[in-house]
Amino acid sequence: LEKEALEKVKQVTSLKDLQDVRVSYLGKKGPITEVLRGMGKLSKEERPVIGELANKVRQTITDAIDERKAVIEEEEMERQMEEETIDVTLPGRPVRVGGPHLLTSIVEEIEDLFIGMGFEVREGPEVETDYYNFEALNLPKGHPARDMQDSFYITEELLMRTHTSPVQARTMNQYQGSKSVKMICPGKVYRRDTDDATHSHQFTQIEGLYVDKNVRLSDLKGVLNRFAKQLFGEDREIRLRPSFFPFTEPSVEMDISCKMCHGDGCSVCKQSGWIEILGAGLVHPRVLKMAGYDPEVYSGFAFGMGPERIAMLKYGVDDIRHFYTNDIRFLKQYHQA
Ligand code: PHE
Repeated sequence: LEKEALEKVKQVTSLKDLQDVRVSYLGKKGPITEVLRGMGKLSKEERPVIGELANKVRQTITDAIDERKAVIEEEEMERQMEEETIDVTLPGRPVRVGGPHLLTSIVEEIEDLFIGMGFEVREGPEVETDYYNFEALNLPKGHPARDMQDSFYITEELLMRTHTSPVQARTMNQYQGSKSVKMICPGKVYRRDTDDATHSHQFTQIEGLYVDKNVRLSDLKGVLNRFAKQLFGEDREIRLRPSFFPFTEPSVEMDISCKMCHGDGCSVCKQSGWIEILGAGLVHPRVLKMAGYDPEVYSGFAFGMGPERIAMLKYGVDDIRHFYTNDIRFLKQYHQA
């Protein structure tokens, strides 16, 4: 019996067959169990002899099975490793990576540009008080120019900021005339507008402020000229046109020449050769005064622009809504390889 069992063990090649062998020889219905079960019928003298023999046979078969099992497992593992080896010479599958949003890129580009001219970047709350959003910027309650920026009010005194100018008012107010200010403030702003190709109820602004002794309109023009050339190309010209903002006096709008624009921006541009980029001016004396700056000593310039508009002109984007709907086919075009 032992011999026969050992022979079978040697022949099996799979774990399943081995288990079958184990059951047939050592299982409850197997011959050894049968022998042990029949012990009661044997004489006193035979019992220990047969018992010892049966146990020995069982042990031998068990050992053989265990040993065989280890060997089969080893073989199995080896086979698996052979089958599953990785061909390192195969070309890899490309990993798709994301990239910064076009709007993020343009804001960072503009930030870097002004940082290079010594401006610091400041941020402020999007839920703003009526005071900082309007009052401190020479827009008292009931001022008709408040209608230029139709607002989302939260309470009578709180609203979603309509521009980032309140960040400038806050900064000046914090310093109370104690030092000069040279800052830009990028951020989200909100206006009650019907969304279309050129309007959005929420958009982005970057405004700048420089307050110091003897700041003049020519300083503003110099900074804006550098900005426009660096962003759009050295062959661009700028021009300032008179305009109106309650917080600046005089106020101007800046155009850039558009010799090398592309996309739909061009059709707007071709007739006059100029396209409006931003609003600016010299800080109104009343705004300086309210923030604790003596307008006899200090003067300053301020400007404000919409990065969406800038990106639309620079890259020929025809609809402002592309910035917010996040169609990957649109966004992908502006990812650097
Ligand atoms: N705050 C103005 C706006 O949102 C832009 C601006 C800023 C104009 C600074 C002039 C000077 O319309």
